[in-house]
Amino acid sequence: MFNNIADNIIKDFNKIKDKLHKILSTTVLEECLILYNLVRQLEDHSIIVEIGTGLGRTAVTMGYGCIGKNSIVYTTDNYAESDTYSEWGMKEHNQGNWNFEQAKKNIENFEVKQYIKQYNLDSIEFSKIFKEESIDLLFIDDCHEYNFVKSEINIWKNKIKKKGIMCGHDFTVRLNEQNTVARAVLDSDIVRNGLFIKNSIWIVKRWW
Ligand SMILES: C[S@@+](CC[C@H](N)C(=O)[O-])C[C@H]1O[C@@H](n2cnc3c(N)ncnc32)[C@H](O)[C@@H]1O
Repeated sequence: MFNNIADNIIKDFNKIKDKLHKILSTTVLEECLILYNLVRQLEDHSIIVEIGTGLGRTAVTMGYGCIGKNSIVYTTDNYAESDTYSEWGMKEHNQGNWNFEQAKKNIENFEVKQYIKQYNLDSIEFSKIFKEESIDLLFIDDCHEYNFVKSEINIWKNKIKKKGIMCGHDFTVRLNEQNTVARAVLDSDIVRNGLFIKNSIWIVKRWW
């Protein structure tokens, strides 16, 4: 039974991965598969929130997870790091334009656009939109500074439903350094009852 579910998820993901690959992103396709899987496992009518839209690869991935479930992905980005990412995009992939409009264009190319609500807000401002215990899955992929991530986790953690999922990207990036996402996650009390790491995605189920 379990294998059938896993096989189906992988089969479905294989149908979309070439399209996802066309969106410039720092999240690799194996990690998109993990996110897709997490979203597929949620109940119908789930609320999914992403902080750090970038150019939309992960938002679209999670949008595919909403098909047939009437779930919604709310995604935001303040594009504060636009210059850095545009420079990286130009250098590595000959694509600049790391901004809201480009992300919107990318998302609109996908059949799942109706499941994605895109915002241009800072994480902290965005958090004010959501009530306590209202989110089924939160994916954090924005600023990677230790102090920011630590306070961001605190601001968002009670917005997650009981037994909901809080997860994020870049856990394994610069793992041996102090000022990293990994340190901030490990120093936070949300990990007290366990933490899953898959590729560079960290995942915690709400127990608090
Ligand atoms: C690694 S990228 C996101 C990539 C995207 N999740 C994907 O994989 O397709 C990180 C994004 O977080 C955004 N960001 C940084 N600080 C932010 C903040 N305080 N609030 C909202 N977005 C922020 C940056 O502008 C950048 O576009």
